[in-house]
Amino acid sequence: GTTYPFYGPHQAGITTPAQDRLHFAAFDASPGLDRDGLIELLRDWTVAAARMTQGRPAGKYGPASGPMDAPPDDTGEALDLPPGGLTLTFGFGPTLFRTASGDDRFGIASRRPAALVDLPRFPGDALLEPISGGDLCVQACSDDPQVAVHAIRNLSRIAFGRAAIRWSQLGFGRTSSTSRAQVTPRNLFGFKDGTANIKSEDQTVVDDQVWASGSDGAGWMAGGSYLVARKIRMVIETWDRQQLGEQERIIGRDKGEGAPLSGGSEFSDPNFLALAKDGGTAIDPDSHVRLAHPTTNGGAQLLRRGYNFVDGNDELGRLNAGLFFIAFQRDPRTQFIPIQQRLAQNDLMNEYVRHVGSGVFAVPPGAHEGSYVGAGLFA
Ligand code: HEM
Repeated sequence: GTTYPFYGPHQAGITTPAQDRLHFAAFDASPGLDRDGLIELLRDWTVAAARMTQGRPAGKYGPASGPMDAPPDDTGEALDLPPGGLTLTFGFGPTLFRTASGDDRFGIASRRPAALVDLPRFPGDALLEPISGGDLCVQACSDDPQVAVHAIRNLSRIAFGRAAIRWSQLGFGRTSSTSRAQVTPRNLFGFKDGTANIKSEDQTVVDDQVWASGSDGAGWMAGGSYLVARKIRMVIETWDRQQLGEQERIIGRDKGEGAPLSGGSEFSDPNFLALAKDGGTAIDPDSHVRLAHPTTNGGAQLLRRGYNFVDGNDELGRLNAGLFFIAFQRDPRTQFIPIQQRLAQNDLMNEYVRHVGSGVFAVPPGAHEGSYVGAGLFA
């Protein structure tokens, strides 16, 4: 199986080829936690994460060999499983830097990066407080869902009394590719998703659009990134009654191959000026691809790394399904926010989607061995 190093200049789980499964969790720090307690928690999480990503148990004894009179230091359900490319990516939410009541209990308010803004309210937002925000986040990705869940469960167990899960989301079926070695998967609208994504092979684009630089303001974030998560419900019953031609017009690409409606094949550049037989443009100006494209957004791009979700169904038999959108970027103020502003106003897709959850997190650079994730924030 695949194993990715935990330590390094950047955290894994960003440019890493997107794994098949996700367990994302947002945590709130417990009321009694202080600065030293937070540092201790990050140290403990780092050690456990470094172990689990290498296919080892969360603690040194493991699930079945520790003292008989103590609870095991690993819960056990991943004991016989390879890590399946497990990555654990940690982030800090705006409320970690200053609590809702304005309290700077960790002494880090002055170190909050300017890029870690509270997201504005977008037109059409239907955000639910209990599945939004969080002081800390952990993105667990693996090709094996049990491995991803095991990692979040053990990090939550380790955090007991110091931080608790505020909300979490399971995802199956990646909705993007982050490497040219991967085929483009499909989202629950049935369209290829990830075609025009930032790919890890494009080093210049990654450096320019994904990694924060020391010169951006917060020196401790150099080599880090900013994660925006949006839980987007799809009104799939309505979508499924929409004609194929209309579905393609909404996206701006064809459903079979994912080629832009201006012609060519999947990876051809869209031509937004090309005309259709009826004299209009081949790609509708309000299509998702036109509005999200870098030429419409002053060159801004995102590294998308989202997942499909189905959380059961409602009492009318409609699936509670959609896309758990995750994007990494150097600065949400010039990337996610203006792009989403444009989409929220005009995207033809809006009739079929509803944003119900949201979070933004500063993802610090990777830790080096012997240190811990986010150490620069406390130096
Ligand atoms: C492209 C679907 C939400 C940003 C695409 C494509 C599809 C798609 C099918 C074309 C293939 C590709 O290049 O990946 C969806 C669905 C969404 C959703 C189903 C919600 C349920 C969003 C959101 C954003 C976004 C919230 C950012 C605010 C982009 C960008 C592209 C894209 C930047 C690439 C455009 C280009 O450069 O051609 N999306 N998307 N998408 N989407 Fe979305």
